Order: sequence, then structure tokens, then C-alpha cells
Amino acid sequence: MSEEILIVEYLEGGICRLTLNRPDRMNALTLPLLRSLKETVENLRFNREVRVVLITGAGEKAFCAGADLKERVTMTPDQVKVFVRTIRDTFTAIENLNKPTIAVVNGVALGGGTELALACDSRVIGQGATMGLTETSLGIIPGAGGTQRLPRLVGKGRAKDLILTARRVGADEALRIGLAEYSFSNEQLQNEAEAIARRIAANAPLALEQAKFAVDKGLEMDIASALDVELKCYELIIPTQDRLEGLKAFAEKRSPVYKGE
Ligand code: COA
Repeated sequence: MSEEILIVEYLEGGICRLTLNRPDRMNALTLPLLRSLKETVENLRFNREVRVVLITGAGEKAFCAGADLKERVTMTPDQVKVFVRTIRDTFTAIENLNKPTIAVVNGVALGGGTELALACDSRVIGQGATMGLTETSLGIIPGAGGTQRLPRLVGKGRAKDLILTARRVGADEALRIGLAEYSFSNEQLQNEAEAIARRIAANAPLALEQAKFAVDKGLEMDIASALDVELKCYELIIPTQDRLEGLKAFAEKRSPVYKGE
């Protein structure tokens, strides 16, 4: 495996895979790793070849064990503030990316690891993986969006249960409570996640961008305003060549070829 702390791979079909690469530290997040992740994600926004982004962890044990607690112990309170600001901004950049993101949870995802998964659009989890917001057991609170994104995903009661008990859940429970959308055997996980990514990447990129935006923004509004957002997003899509290609391909009984135009 490469020495890079973040491996960036461009797979066939417009899929980009980002791999947190600190397996000896359970892919825990340091400031340099977060900065690399943020810069990479911000550049992906303008890469039209990339249609879907997978985020996973190196090795077989961990997706991401959260903040690097060994780095943390060396930090002054002011440095902790910098870290917290950086992790929050990085996950918000992932959430706001103009293309779908999938967390491929290949092992332990604790604290910031689960928060990273929550910032993605979907979560695909291996059978051997565990997720959880463990922060209150460490004397802190989830500070990278966990207190806000978890209740929006699984509901207030379940989110409070997970945050207040700091307990860890396995793949079956994660799936049952809606913390993950798919679960596969550890062996099949990466292939199946790529298959889901390919299914998404076959759809029209501008439609994906607007659909993601409408869901995310609309859920934060009253229904009337949210429906207005949906309408505006739809109107942006009407002049696109891809919309016409979708109609043409249907009439010609073939698969559409979308260009993101
Ligand atoms: N930061 C820094 N190093 C970490 C880490 C973290 N968050 N999590 C694990 N590691 C390190 C361990 O210290 C160990 O290094 P060492 O061999 O030099 O001691 C190595 O990764 C392997 O971890 P280990 O604990 O031996 O493996 P395990 O399989 O028994 O347990 C975990 C793995 C992830 C369950 C356990 O390490 C753990 O609970 N970590 C804390 C996770 C957490 O609560 N994160 C939230 C932070 S806000």
C-alpha cells in the first residue's frame, strides 16, 4: 500500500475512491489527513469525469476510528479548536459536494468515523463493521456534525440513545435503524459498493446534483418552501442536453449516454 495518508483512485465509469490510509492507527483522523481529504473533495467538485465518490478505509479492521487520540493528547486547547473546526469543515465539504458520495464502512467506524459516514449520501457497511458515536464516553460530544446529522438520519430517539449510551452497533442493527442503507459480507463489500456506485454513475450527473441538493436543502425547510426548491431544481434541468438524451434513449429503446451537459 502507498505511503500516502489519503489514496485517491480513479476507477472505470466515473468513480473516484478515496481511501484513508493509516491502517496501523485504525485510519484515525489527524490534521494532515483531514486537510488532504478536504482539499481533494474540493477539487473533485470541478472534475467532470468523476460522477460518484466512494470513501473507505485501508486494511481489514477499520473504516476510521475517529479523531487520532494520540495526536489529541499532544494538543493545546487552541489546537483542539483548530482540529474541531477542520473536521467540521471537511465533513461539510463532503456533504455539500455536487456529486453523490458513499461511505464504504469496511470495519470500525467510531466517533468521527461514524460522523464521516453520516456526511456521505449513503452508507454501505461490511458485516464485521461496527459504528457508534463514542464521544460522551471520552468526556466530549460528537463535534463533527454527529449530534445533528444522526437524528436527521435515524430519528431523535435513536440518535439520543446512541449518543448518550456511547454504545457501538454492528452491521445488522445499523441496517435496521437506518444508519446504513446496505450491508454485505466483508469479502463482497468493495465490489458491491462499486456496483452501487456504477448504478448511480449511469444516471445524469446534473440530475443527480439537483436531486441531492433538493433533498438536502428541502429537509431543512417547511414543506411549501421545500417544494419551491424542488421546482427550481427541476427548472434548472429542463434546458440540459441530458434530459433530451434521456427521452431519445427511451424512444430508441437503448441505454442513455449522459454527458453532464
Ligand atoms: N486514535 C489513535 N490511535 C488509535 C485510535 C484512535 N482513535 N484507535 C485505535 N488506535 C490505535 C491503537 O492505539 C493501537 O495502536 P498501538 O498498537 O500503538 O497501541 C492501534 O490503533 C490498534 O488499536 P487496538 O485498540 O489495539 O485494536 P482493537 O482491535 O483492540 O480495538 C478500537 C480497535 C478502534 C475498537 C479501539 O482502538 C478503540 O476503541 N479506539 C478508540 C475509538 C474511539 O472511540 N474513537 C472516537 C474518538 S473521538
